[in-house]
Amino acid sequence: MLDKDKKVTGINRRSALKLAGGAAIAGLGVRAFPAPATAQGAPLRVGVMLPFTGTYGAIGKTIDNAFKQYVAEHGDKLGGRTLEFVQVDDQAEPAKGPDNMNKLVSRDNVDVVIGTVHSGVQMAMNKIARETGKLMIIPNAGANIATRAQCAPNIFRTSFSNWQPSYPLGKVLMDAGHKSAIILTWKYAAGEEHANAFKEGYTKLGGKIDAEFYVPFPEVEFQSYLTQIAEKKPSAVFTFIAGGGAVKLVKDYAAAGLKKSIPLYGSGFLTDGTLQAQGEAAEGLQTTLHYADDLDNPAEKAFRANYKKRYNADPDVYAVQGYDAAALLDVGLKAVKGDVNAKENLYKAMASAKLDSPRGPMTFSASHNPVQNIYLREVRKGKNVKIGIAAEALADPGTGCKMV
Ligand code: BEZ
Repeated sequence: MLDKDKKVTGINRRSALKLAGGAAIAGLGVRAFPAPATAQGAPLRVGVMLPFTGTYGAIGKTIDNAFKQYVAEHGDKLGGRTLEFVQVDDQAEPAKGPDNMNKLVSRDNVDVVIGTVHSGVQMAMNKIARETGKLMIIPNAGANIATRAQCAPNIFRTSFSNWQPSYPLGKVLMDAGHKSAIILTWKYAAGEEHANAFKEGYTKLGGKIDAEFYVPFPEVEFQSYLTQIAEKKPSAVFTFIAGGGAVKLVKDYAAAGLKKSIPLYGSGFLTDGTLQAQGEAAEGLQTTLHYADDLDNPAEKAFRANYKKRYNADPDVYAVQGYDAAALLDVGLKAVKGDVNAKENLYKAMASAKLDSPRGPMTFSASHNPVQNIYLREVRKGKNVKIGIAAEALADPGTGCKMV
């Protein structure tokens, strides 16, 4: 075997595949990359790959802000290490994903990658993280596969799988007496996975899907779909649309006069980080998500107050996910006294972390996806107010990952 096939940033291939303490993940190609500058005392190099422009630009900025908030709250260090950031705007553009990730991993030689938002870009990043063994924390993108068949010891997620927020919504609609629904979503991995999760939860309780409309990402021309919804008159509509697209959809839906006659439901990305721009049009919308604006726990209260002070804005779910990405890295680095190359113990500590998150209790599944409450929320006076728990301590059902 050639030397380059043996080494993954200082550990051999077999142990890289067994790091989570269990069975190896078969079939991963592993290439050699230069060892990062990890000397104790040297700053930890943090690659931040997020969209900072376009439809998801505000989401990327919020994640980055909150990550840095956590660092600032902890003496500008994580696990005793100062940090050096290398930032890439991935533009939520899947075609550029491999180049952007490779730049961070091989050219900039970062110790850890924080990214990203868009599920399509995430899939490209996942492949490279698996091949190189580079530590990666996903602060948003929900691509199910990242913590199912394509999981890895070095990949963690502090957000959600796309299945998690949308599956419980099926029961919410049925409980509200909506026995038929139309799905309106973006045509890319996240839209399809949210739609499938909703369908699974809804149809198994007897709900009927009248039609499914898939809008090319990142288009926001919803009018023709709204006309069809008005004609077909389903009992309700399910949607996954986020960021700038969610602002447009919620306003268009209200302007089309559909809001009262055909209630619009969605995973909570429909109304998170968007309420100020949506205004009155969002009032009364019900959604399911792992966060709400009025959760009653001390971590949330401190987080919310500090975020508001630093950024003069209210935090949202994306902020929580970015904050928790820093918190998770901190837990891991503390366990290895800042030595990011002590991978076995680093990953063990991260995998068993119990984060005191602003979202409430949070642990990690065997494949490193959050186990968390999914709240039912309603928009009241410009806030996503918790009105119930749609699913308690919900774990993604994926079974494709053989990490433990
Ligand atoms: C995704 O692509 O996975 C995603 C993007 C924005 C919000 C939620 C999920």
